[in-house]
Amino acid sequence: MKRRRTIYEGKAKILYEGPEPGTLVQYFKDDTTAFDAKKRAVLEGKGVLNNRISEYLMMQLQAIGVPTHFVRRLNMREQLIKEVEIIPLEVVARNVAAGSLSARLGIQEGQPLPRSIIEYYYKNDQLHDPWVSEEHITAFGWASPQDLDDIVNLTIRINDFLSGLFLGVGIKLVDFKLEFGRLWENEFMRIVLADEISPDSCRLWDIQTNEKLDKDRFRRDLGGVTEAYSEVAKRLGILPESAQGSGGPVLVR
Ligand code: TMP
Ligand code: ASP
Repeated sequence: MKRRRTIYEGKAKILYEGPEPGTLVQYFKDDTTAFDAKKRAVLEGKGVLNNRISEYLMMQLQAIGVPTHFVRRLNMREQLIKEVEIIPLEVVARNVAAGSLSARLGIQEGQPLPRSIIEYYYKNDQLHDPWVSEEHITAFGWASPQDLDDIVNLTIRINDFLSGLFLGVGIKLVDFKLEFGRLWENEFMRIVLADEISPDSCRLWDIQTNEKLDKDRFRRDLGGVTEAYSEVAKRLGILPESAQGSGGPVLVR
């Protein structure tokens, strides 16, 4: 097998040097972690599903004019992306109370929020991704006020669009996390959506039953994690070409 230079290895993905300058290959692992990687597992087929789901969502977003790092999917586990300078923030949008918001503010999980809320976390594992405000972000120069303006506008558009898209397939988009990067084209810089959008980074609940179809199944030991991811892929009308025979998803079309 051809050896490639690893640019960065994260908990769930690896970035390899791309085929041409300014590109990278994003590889989706089956590794699954939670609580700062204190909890870990290898869930067979998860990477394949996330690669496919993220491809689909990024392409839909591109179609409505949201700039992203995504170029194309290369194979079951890899996609070609544009190399960007990652902004060290986890941008969370919430529509319904859950997770850390419920824990921190004592709001019952499942309660619809009066309006969508955007939060920022400083992307730093050693510090456990602390909650930060726009003041911290601009004071420490993680992003400029103009960058943040673009990030907020994009996040609102992404939330509106994805909420509708998931609603159409019987899923409530409770909350999700985004990452953004700076894409340099000559001397011009644009903020683009980066990383992934998948059941690893979203809370997705069945509209009828509120059944969790996301990584909370792993965090909370509910079981059926890849089955839930596969259900999301099925409802979106997508499924990997050949994940059969691995206890993974079955092609239905
Ligand atoms: P939280 O309620 O734990 O703050 O999570 C909010 C959303 O962000 C949820 O959809 C899961 C996602 N998320 C990540 O993608 N990565 C993380 O490290 C954390 C903590 C949350
Ligand atoms: N991804 C984070 C971790 O590995 C946390 C999470 O998603 O719950 O710790």
